[in-house]
Amino acid sequence: MAEFKEISPNASAGEKLLNWVDNRFPASKLYKEHLSEYYAPKNFNFFYFFGSLALLVLVIQIVTGIFLVMHYKPDANLAFGSVEYIMRDVPWGWLIRYMHSTGASAFFIVVYMHMYRGLIYGSYRKPRELVWVFGCAIFLCLMAEAFMGYLLPWGQMSYWGAQVIVNLFAAVPFVGPDLALLIRGDYVVGDATLNRFFSFHVIAVPLVLLGLVVAHIIALHEVGSNNPDGVEIKGPNAPKDANGHPLDGIPFHPYYTVHDILGVSGFLLVFSAVIFFAPEFGGYFLEYNNFIPADPLKTPLHIAPVWYFTPFYSMLRAITSEMMYVLIACVFAGAIFGATRANLPKVVKGGFLGAAVFVSLLMLNIDAKFWGVLVMGGAVVILFFLPWLDHCAVKSIRYRPDWHKYMYGVFVVNFVVLAYLGVQPPSAIGERVSQVGTLFYFGFFLLMPIWSRIGATKPVPDRVTFTPH
Ligand code: HEM
Repeated sequence: MAEFKEISPNASAGEKLLNWVDNRFPASKLYKEHLSEYYAPKNFNFFYFFGSLALLVLVIQIVTGIFLVMHYKPDANLAFGSVEYIMRDVPWGWLIRYMHSTGASAFFIVVYMHMYRGLIYGSYRKPRELVWVFGCAIFLCLMAEAFMGYLLPWGQMSYWGAQVIVNLFAAVPFVGPDLALLIRGDYVVGDATLNRFFSFHVIAVPLVLLGLVVAHIIALHEVGSNNPDGVEIKGPNAPKDANGHPLDGIPFHPYYTVHDILGVSGFLLVFSAVIFFAPEFGGYFLEYNNFIPADPLKTPLHIAPVWYFTPFYSMLRAITSEMMYVLIACVFAGAIFGATRANLPKVVKGGFLGAAVFVSLLMLNIDAKFWGVLVMGGAVVILFFLPWLDHCAVKSIRYRPDWHKYMYGVFVVNFVVLAYLGVQPPSAIGERVSQVGTLFYFGFFLLMPIWSRIGATKPVPDRVTFTPH
C-alpha cells in the first residue's frame, strides 16, 4: 500500500478533496503519467490527429447507440418500423440516427488514416509491435461491429448483405453449413439472427472494443509515441534535460490537448456538414435499398456492402476458379524460392515442395468460394504480421529510398481501386483489375521482407526535425 500523504490544514477544500482521493485512488498519478507528464515528440503533424479522433468517434457511437437502443425494437416484425419511428417521431431521433450511421463511416475513414500513418512512419516497428497488434484486433472488432449493426434496420441491404456474408461461412469444408446455421440461428437470416446480432452489436463487441482500446493506449504509453521522423525521443541515447525529460518531447497536456482540439474542430465541421446536408452521402453511407423493408422473397439486383468493406469484398470476388491457377502458380513460386535458399537442410527444402503439391491439390479440389473467403480474411490477418515483415533499416518513409514512396502510393491507389470495384456490379474488366489488385495487395506484404531491404536509405537525424511556428 502506498504511503498515506498528510496535507496542511490550511490547504483549500479542493486540495484537501484531491488529497483524500489520491490516498485511495491514483488520480493525480494517472493524470501525470498519461497527460501532464506524458512526453510526446514535438513534431507531430496532421496524421497524428486521427488517434484522438478515433476516441471521439468511439464515444459518439456509444452515446448515440445508447439513445437508439431506447427506441429500437430487435424484432424482425418491428425493427424496420422502429427505425422509421426514430427518424420521424422521436424528438431529435433523426439526428441521433444520422450521427450513428455517419459515425460508422467516419470511424472507418479515421481509422484508415490512423493505420496509414502507422504504415508510413513505421510506428508498428520495435518497440511498438503490441500497439499495432492491439490496433489490428480493434480493426477486426470494428468490422464485426459494423457488419452486425448494419443488419439491425432490417432493410433490403441489411437482410441480403447478411445473407451473402453468412452464406460465405458455408463454403468452409466439412463444418461450413453447420457453422452458417450456428451464426444465423436459422436456415435463413431471420428473427433469431437479428436477436443475436443485436446482442453482439450493443454489448459483446463494444466491451471487447473498449478493452482493446485501453490496452492499445496502455501499450503506447509504456513505450512512448513514434513520430514522423521515426526517431526515438526516450531511448537511452536520446537527449534529455536535467530532470530526465526528453528534449524533443513536450507534455501531452496542454500542448497536444490543444493541438487535438484543432483536429476535433475540423472533424466536427465536416462531420456535421455530412449529417445535416448529405447523411446518405449519395448512397455510400446509407444505401438506398436499405430504405425498403427486408423482403426474403425479393433479392435486390445488386448487393454491395458499405464502402469500408468493399476493398476486401473485391478480393473475395477476385478469387474465381480461373484465378485459382494463378494462386497455385504463386504457391509454387514461393516453394521454389524457399527451396533455393542456400542455408536450409535438404529435408526442409523438400518439405516446401511437398507442401506446395499438397496445398495445390487442396486448391484444385475445394470450391474457389472458400479460397475467396480465406483471401478476404487473410487480407486483414496479414496486417497483424506487419511488424515482422518490414526489414527496412529505417522506420519512417522520410528516410527510405524514394521508390518506397511510390510503392506506398501504389498501395493506396490499389486499395481505393479495389474499394471502388467492390461497390460496382460484377464486370469482366472489373474482375481482372481486382485480381491484379489482390495480387499486388498480398505481394506488397508477403514480399516485404525482400523489397523493404533493397535500396539506399537516407541518414536519419539524431534529433527530430521541427520548425517552430
Ligand atoms: C477505435 C480505434 C482506435 C483508437 C481509439 C485508437 C487510439 C489511438 C490513440 C489515442 C493513439 C495515440 C495518438 C496518436 O498516435 O494518434 C494511437 C496510436 C497508435 N495507434 Fe491507434 N487507435 C485505434 C485503432 C488503431 C488501429 C486499427 C491501428 C492499426 C492497425 C492502430 C495503430 C496505432 C499505432 C501504431 C499507434 C502509435 C502511433 C505512433 O506512435 O506513431 N490504432 N491510437
